[in-house]
Amino acid sequence: MKFASVLSALGALTAVSAVQVNPLPAPRNITWGTSGPIQVKQLRLNGHHSSHVITSAWERAWHTITTLQWVPAAVESPIVSYPAFPTATPTPSSKIKRTHTGLHTVEVHVMDSDADLQHGVDESYTLEVAKGDSSIKIKAQTVWGALHAFTTLQQIIISDGRGNLIIEQPVKIKDAPLYPYRGIMMDTGRNFISMRKIFEQIDGMALSKLNVLHWHLDDAQSWPMQIRSYPEMTKDAYSAREVYTENDMRSVISYARARGIRVIPEVDMPGHAASGWQQIDPEIVTCVDSWWSNDVWEYHTAVEPNPGQLDIIYNKTYEAVDNVYKDLSRIFSDNFFHVGADEIQTGCYNFSTHITEWFAEDPSRTYNDLSQYWIDHAMPIFRSVGDHRRLVMWEDIVIAAEGAHDVPKDIIMQTWNQGDNNIKKLASAGYDVIVSTSDFLYLDCGHGGAVTNDPRYNEQSNPGGDITFNYGGNGGSWCGPYKTWQRIYDYDFLTNLTDSEAKHVIGAEAPLWSEQIDDVTISSAFWPRAAALGELVWSGNRDAHDRKRTTELTQRIINFREYLVANGVMATVLVPKYCAQHPHACDLYKNQTVLG
Ligand SMILES: *[C@@H]1O[C@H](CO)[C@@H](O)[C@H](O)[C@H]1NC(C)=O
Ligand SMILES: *[C@@H]1O[C@H](CO)[C@@H](O)[C@H](O)[C@H]1NC(C)=O
Ligand SMILES: *[C@@H]1O[C@H](CO)[C@@H](O)[C@H](O)[C@H]1NC(C)=O
Ligand SMILES: *[C@@H]1O[C@H](CO)[C@@H](O)[C@H](O)[C@H]1NC(C)=O
Ligand SMILES: *[C@@H]1O[C@H](CO)[C@@H](O)[C@H](O)[C@H]1NC(C)=O
Repeated sequence: MKFASVLSALGALTAVSAVQVNPLPAPRNITWGTSGPIQVKQLRLNGHHSSHVITSAWERAWHTITTLQWVPAAVESPIVSYPAFPTATPTPSSKIKRTHTGLHTVEVHVMDSDADLQHGVDESYTLEVAKGDSSIKIKAQTVWGALHAFTTLQQIIISDGRGNLIIEQPVKIKDAPLYPYRGIMMDTGRNFISMRKIFEQIDGMALSKLNVLHWHLDDAQSWPMQIRSYPEMTKDAYSAREVYTENDMRSVISYARARGIRVIPEVDMPGHAASGWQQIDPEIVTCVDSWWSNDVWEYHTAVEPNPGQLDIIYNKTYEAVDNVYKDLSRIFSDNFFHVGADEIQTGCYNFSTHITEWFAEDPSRTYNDLSQYWIDHAMPIFRSVGDHRRLVMWEDIVIAAEGAHDVPKDIIMQTWNQGDNNIKKLASAGYDVIVSTSDFLYLDCGHGGAVTNDPRYNEQSNPGGDITFNYGGNGGSWCGPYKTWQRIYDYDFLTNLTDSEAKHVIGAEAPLWSEQIDDVTISSAFWPRAAALGELVWSGNRDAHDRKRTTELTQRIINFREYLVANGVMATVLVPKYCAQHPHACDLYKNQTVLG
């Protein structure tokens, strides 16, 4: 049925002379010859590697190629003069070259089979189908680069729609990512996400060459993960079924690793903390019983319900943090660990006698001193697991008004506010930076608010352009409007950085906060938008003439959406199918170079 719908998507295609089969993300360098497609029969894996990861990745890729019999679902226009990406030409089957040898092996050569999947590992690869050769040649420094070659290859072997698998040749690809950190963030604290749906996101990531799943495990609302030291914490899971056991977390890590994806856990501390922690000792969290108070903002204790933060002055807090962190560190194998530090709300601390007394002891103490106390007492715990550990924190701990005075420069900062301003501030201060600017990369924006009893909706005329409506965000929610794939892809996050500042940007990540996301909506919220980020951080958003190639991406991302769905990743639709079948007919401007 999938196959039939794909074919019908092609519709008018037989009349068109070129088929866009180029992969997403676009390789850094791909050179096509014009010898015409040759038939692909059975491809066997061969070559010098000794990796189970490679063997099973090839089995998956080949299974996908043969079962999907993919026919590109969107074509590139032959009439557009904009330098189109090289295309393959669909040829009547009589014209497909059937060399007497045929294409029957994939030769994989990996230089270093032992390189671990960690930040900065070499992910480059080359892929070549030489004229007249009987094998596809893949070379990679590491296993992880070879996996990327497979996700490229499985997109360029297509069906001619008549039962033949074909590949355009000769083709030569030399590929490597621009950034070592290419991520998405999944939040399982606000709503639970099932294992099946987590695997689905990982499948989408592998196809789009995203290599980091930042897993925001818990939040004030719920604590879904099993912790060996404190089994009672999961009393604050939404239900006994909505829990990740240690085995579940290990399965996510190994499923991801098999696809070249790192899983970075986050436990947000000291803010966004109530559920779970309160089961250990109610005193290690504060303000959980307060009204979060949007009503009188001066009294607010949280930016959204429900309130709760770790008590920074109470000693037992650190014992609990130590045990939780060490238990999770035994499960998560990545060198990176995200320890939060997001959005500390000072009002929450009025509810702690430990903290109010600490302030009373010395009236010169400030909230900055309090944040510094957290850093000084929590960092030794975070560092105690070994020198391999690199910590990630949200930028608030450095940039917010209540931030700490002195945050070690080896902590990676994840920035979400103020775009280039904050990127520059952090990078020039010497921090490595992960770009997650909410104005461009927050995938949850623009769906209205998650808070109830909201009189702002009781407006009998359309507030339209009134940006004071609903959180001040045009389109609803504090960070509205919705970020489209074009908004994401067009983001030039290095603007105004010096070369040495730019070197501190290790990559970008698109967060999807889950107040309004669960199993039903997660895939359509991530996909295919996350794939636009995937290309942005893999090969960039500009062509060889330094022009934005967003228009060039259009047909590829429309095709890629269909490809995701065919692979079981429930990506949302971007355009009327008409636009897939009529390239650039749906553009805002006919002029193909309006993008700067
Ligand atoms: C791409 O590779 C081809 C040969 O493989 C080379 O001639 C060309 O200069 C490369 N292009 C870029 C932009 O590196
Ligand atoms: C906390 O105490 C400060 C100083 O007394 C006060 O300004 C603020 O309104 C209080 N916040 C809450 C939430 O009670
Ligand atoms: C917390 O521990 C420190 C040193 O470990 C000690 O000096 C301090 O008195 C303790 N504070 C409380 C409130 O128990
Ligand atoms: C870059 O810097 C210029 C000059 O300071 C400023 O006008 C512009 O807004 C900055 N651009 C961004 C994206 O921050
Ligand atoms: C297309 O748009 C670009 C950028 O605005 C402009 O420089 C160019 O002149 C336009 N071309 C035509 C044919 O209008």
